[in-house]
Amino acid sequence: MKLAIIGSGYVGLTTGTCFAEVGHEVICVDNNEHKVAALRAGKIPIYEPGLEEMIVRNVANGRLKFTTSIKEGVDNALVVFIAVPTPPQPDGSVDLSFVEKVAREIAGVITDYRVVVDKSTVPVKTGEKVRQTISRYNSGGVEFDVVSNPEFLREGSAVADLMKPDRVVVGADTEKAGNIMKELYTPFGAPILVTDLNSAELIKHAANSFLALKISYINAISRICEASGANVEMVAQGMGADHRIGRAFLNAGIGYGGSCFPKDLSAFIRISEDLGYDFGLLKEVSRINDDQREHFVKQIRDSLWVFREKRVGLLGLAFKGNTDDVRNSVAMDLAQIFLKEGAHVIAYDPQGAEKAKEIEPRLEIVSRGEDVAEKADVIVVATEWKEFRDLDWASMRKRALSNLLFDGRNLLDPAKVAALGFEYHSIGRR
Ligand code: UGA
Repeated sequence: MKLAIIGSGYVGLTTGTCFAEVGHEVICVDNNEHKVAALRAGKIPIYEPGLEEMIVRNVANGRLKFTTSIKEGVDNALVVFIAVPTPPQPDGSVDLSFVEKVAREIAGVITDYRVVVDKSTVPVKTGEKVRQTISRYNSGGVEFDVVSNPEFLREGSAVADLMKPDRVVVGADTEKAGNIMKELYTPFGAPILVTDLNSAELIKHAANSFLALKISYINAISRICEASGANVEMVAQGMGADHRIGRAFLNAGIGYGGSCFPKDLSAFIRISEDLGYDFGLLKEVSRINDDQREHFVKQIRDSLWVFREKRVGLLGLAFKGNTDDVRNSVAMDLAQIFLKEGAHVIAYDPQGAEKAKEIEPRLEIVSRGEDVAEKADVIVVATEWKEFRDLDWASMRKRALSNLLFDGRNLLDPAKVAALGFEYHSIGRR
C-alpha cells in the first residue's frame, strides 16, 4: 500500500520506517530541508536502537523516500498520516496549529479519495475538526475519510514497539476507511481494535494518564515504605504478580518525565475540564510526581548540608534509558536545581550529553561514567541506563571525596554498593 507520513519527527519517522519494513511504499514529508537531505543520506536526527539500519535498508530498496513536498506525498499515497507536533501551551492545553495547517495543506492538494489519519496525540474531537477543515478548504468536494490511529511507541524501544504492538487502535467512522487501515496493519500480526473516531482519540490520553498514574501510585507507596521500613520493590513484585495489576510501570523513582506523560496529563486535565469534568485524580498524579523529585533533592541537601561549592557527579541526563532525549527530563531538572544552589555538576550520559550541554552549558560533561566520581561530594543516579550497574563502582568510591551515593532509579544493588563503603540512598528501600 502507498502511504505518506507528514512530519518526520520521532513518531513520523519511526512509524514510516516500520511501515516500509513490512513492505509498504512510504514517503515521509518534512518541511525542514536540512532534515530531509540528512535523512536521504541515511543520517538520522535521533538515537533510537535499530532505527538507523532500518532506514538505510529501506531507502536502499526504494520503499522509503523523503520529501519536503506535501503535494508529492498526497499525490503518491492512499493513506496520508498526520504526525506533526502537538506542543503544550502555557495553560496546559494543546497547540493544534500544526495539525490545522497540515489539514489545510492536504485540502489544497487532494484530488481523489484519501484516508487522512491522525497519528499525533490530540484532544478528543480533533478528528472532527480535521474533517471539517479539509471539507471547507477543498474546492472540488473530493471524497475522503478521517481516521484516528494513536501511537503507543516508547522512546528507546520505538522500533520493537512498532513492529510488535500489543494492539493497534483505529478510530474510523466508515467501513471503507476501517478496512483500508486493517489491511495496512495486517503484516504486523497484532490485534486491531476498530472504534469510532472520538473513542480512539480518547484511548491515547486515557492510556498515557493511566500509566502515569501507575508510576505515581508506586512512588506514593515508596514513601510509605521509607516511613515504615518496607521495601518498595518487594511490594511492587507482590502487587504486580496479580495479572489484573501487572508488574510493568511499577518502578519507583524520581518520577516520570519526557515529552509525553507530563504534557499529556496536563492536556487531559484541561480537556476534561472543557468537557465539564474536574479530573482531580490526575491533578494528584502530577502533584505526586513533582513531590517525588523535591523529596529526593531534599534528602541530598540534608546529607550534603550545603550545596554551595560541592561537586555533584550526575549519572544520566536523558529522561529515561536508551534514548538521547533530554526534553522534560527529571535528570536535567535535578542538574539545574544543583547548579542553582551553587554546586558544580559533572555529568555523564551514554547518549544524551550533547543535547543536554546545548540546553545547560554549565554542565561539565565527561566521556566515561566513572569520571563523574572524580573528587565528587556526592554521586547521583538520575536515569535508568542499565549500563550504570556495570560501572567500576569500587574505583568510583576511591575517586570520590565522600561516600554519599543517591540512586533515584533503584538501579544498584544496595548490599553491593554498601560493601564498597558507600552510604547508599535509594527510593523506598533500605
Ligand atoms: C510513553 C508511553 O509509554 C507510550 O506508550 C506512548 O506512546 C508515549 O509515551 C507517547 O505518548 O508518545 P515514553 O514517554 O517514550 O512513552 O517513555 P516511557 O517508557 O513510558 O517512560 C516515561 C517516563 O516514565 C520516563 O521518565 C521513565 O523514567 C518513567 N517511568 C517509567 C518510571 O518512573 N517508572 C516506570 O515504572 C516506568
